[in-house]
Parts: sequence; structure tokens; C-alpha cells
Amino acid sequence: MKKHNIAVVGASGMVGGELLGLLESRRFPVGEFYPFNSGRRRAFVKFRGKKYACAAPTLEALKKADIVFFVSTDEVAERFAPRLAAAGVWCVDDSARFRLAAGVPLVIPEVNGVELKPSKKLIAGPNCTLTGAAVALAGIHKKFRIKELRLATYQAVSGAGKAAMGELEDQLRGYLRRGAAPAKGKKFPRPIAFNVFPQVGGFDAEGHSGEENKVEAELKKIWGDRRLKISVTAVRVPVLRGHSLAVWARTARPFTPAGLKRELLRAPGLKFFARPEDYPTPLAHGNRTEIVYAGRLRRARTSPDEFQLWIVSDNLYKGAALNSVQIAEKLIKL
Ligand SMILES: NC(=O)c1ccc[n+]([C@@H]2O[C@H](COP(=O)([O-])OP(=O)(O)OC[C@H]3O[C@@H](n4cnc5c(N)ncnc54)[C@H](OP(=O)(O)O)[C@@H]3O)[C@@H](O)[C@H]2O)c1
Repeated sequence: MKKHNIAVVGASGMVGGELLGLLESRRFPVGEFYPFNSGRRRAFVKFRGKKYACAAPTLEALKKADIVFFVSTDEVAERFAPRLAAAGVWCVDDSARFRLAAGVPLVIPEVNGVELKPSKKLIAGPNCTLTGAAVALAGIHKKFRIKELRLATYQAVSGAGKAAMGELEDQLRGYLRRGAAPAKGKKFPRPIAFNVFPQVGGFDAEGHSGEENKVEAELKKIWGDRRLKISVTAVRVPVLRGHSLAVWARTARPFTPAGLKRELLRAPGLKFFARPEDYPTPLAHGNRTEIVYAGRLRRARTSPDEFQLWIVSDNLYKGAALNSVQIAEKLIKL
């Protein structure tokens, strides 16, 4: 099998670490391997049993790769990805920078993998929060057309990177060892230990948070449906890994619970639990899991054309690293 030279920009980060593990465990045909970090500190990563020192990225160094995974920041993706793509290097970008850019496919392979084309060298992966909903509800949307979607999110701290995980762990240790009441840290707007808060990102003029706006705009792009109406309340919870969603969806075409269940049972990349008591949780189903999980399907009491569902997915795997590797697996077959 042909091997591909791979660069990972952000290899020392949360998503980067998972991405390296997945390239190994899924036996991605890697030739040369080039890891990069900010260059502001010394960082080493292990890949296929070998230790590599990370370096700050340069255009010349990145051009040695056939595929570059961007798992760092919007600014870094902006600085390098368009020029690399113009030079014929595949760029799979997990940052938010190009997700809504015209001409850049925003891809979840099992939902809209058909948008991957040899001519589109720059591909974006979506925000980790909407991935679960996009995968779980795609089949139902096709069959019954979801016209209104309401989401309450319960987002793990790892969604904000490795420093955010450290912040939760420090606050928990401080409380358990010294009885210190959790204080506001550097990554979050409120103490995160023993707390929840309805803020993920900054607020716009109408009071919607950055995360809420991303979920709305990106899901519309992935499903290719501008008519869809979406309201989100994004909430950070003191969970280390795994995002959960409470969903209320109204459909344009009438459904039966049995009809919804059929779609959920055959949705690619989804495991649906039909018995109410089998619902998924982040601890059991959002930690190094390669699929999305859903349960607690029921008709809503508010309206006969509305149903409710509970969804859990691993923000670091399907919400980021795994989705990027799955994109690359498809790219090398184009
Ligand atoms: N966490 C998630 O669940 C999730 C989900 C979807 C998408 N994403 C996206 O994935 C990206 C990475 O997130 P993360 O959670 O892994 O963050 P993270 O843990 O904070 O890691 C960030 C990585 O980027 C590197 N980096 C920072 N500035 C850089 C620069 N100027 N040049 C090169 N590398 C630089 C860091 O290197 P140092 O170690 O040197 O600082 C580190 O390796 C972000 O764009 C994020 O929006 C994350």
C-alpha cells in the first residue's frame, strides 16, 4: 500500500495526542512523520515506538508532507493551510478558521463524505459539539425533515484543550486536599469544579455564545439546509471527556416513534439504545469511543410533531481527531 508523509501541527495538544494514537491503531499508511508544536516549549511525542521532538512549523517543512493535520489554532491554520493547499498538499483542519468558508468542504464522512473531491485540498472538520447531533439525526432529517432543532449541551472541559483539563483537575484536588473553594481559573469564566455555567465562548450582541453560533451555522452547512431553525444553549460541565446533548426536534413530515427508531438503528456511525434505561453517559460512551451513542427517544409532550433524544459522543475522537483521520482515510482513496 502506498505510504503518505504526514505532518501534525499541534501534535503536543489534546487532539494531537489522540490523532497520533488513531493513526497508529487504525494502521494509517504513514511514510515520514513530522510533528509540530508552538515552538514556545520543548515537547516530544511518541509515534510507532519512536520519540520525536516537535518543532515550530514553517511552510517549507510542512510542504514535505502529503497530508497536514491542523490541530492547533485558527491563526496557525490561516497562516499555512491555504498556501499548502494551493501547492497541492492535503490540509485537514480542525480549527474553526475555514469551516464556514465558501468552497471549503466541512465534512463528517458518514454524513457528507461525498463532498470530498480531489480538487478540494483544504477540508475542515466541524465543532465537536454538533458532531453527535449531525451523525445521530442525519437519517431522520432526510426522511422526516427536521424543521426546528433545540439543543441543550453538556460539554466536557477537554473541549477547551489540555490547559482546561488541568484547571478542573487542580480545582478538584484543591478542594479535596485543602477544602479550598474552587476559584475562577484562567481558561473558564467561572470556577468549573462542582459547577456548570451557560457560557462556551464569548457573547454576541444578541446574547448568543460563540459555541451556540458555531453549532447553528456549521450544522446547516453540513446538512446543506439553510431553512433549518436551530436554538442552542451551550453549557460547560465538570466532565473530563465526552459531550452530551439533550435534543428537541420538530419535523415537517409526520413521524411515528417506530419510524424514528428504524432510522436511528440504521444510521452509520451511531449506536442507538432503544430501552430508556440504557441511555449513554460520557463516562461510559464518550471516552475513546469511535461512534456516537443515542437513547431516550420519545415523542415530546409539547407538540405531536416533536421528539426528544439524548446523544453522547467523544469530543476528542469523533468530535475532532477521529473525524480528521476518517477524512484522510477517504482522501487517500479518491
Ligand atoms: N478539544 C476538542 O475537543 C476539540 C474538538 C474539535 C476541534 N478542536 C480544535 O482542535 C484544535 C486543537 O485543540 P486542542 O484541544 O488539542 O488544544 P490544546 O490541547 O490546547 O493543544 C493545542 C496545540 O496547538 C499547538 N500550538 C499552539 N500555538 C501554536 C503555533 N503558533 N504553532 C504551532 N502549534 C501551536 C500547541 O503547542 P504547544 O504544546 O507548544 O503549546 C498544542 O500542540 C483547536 O483548533 C480546537 O478548536 C478541539
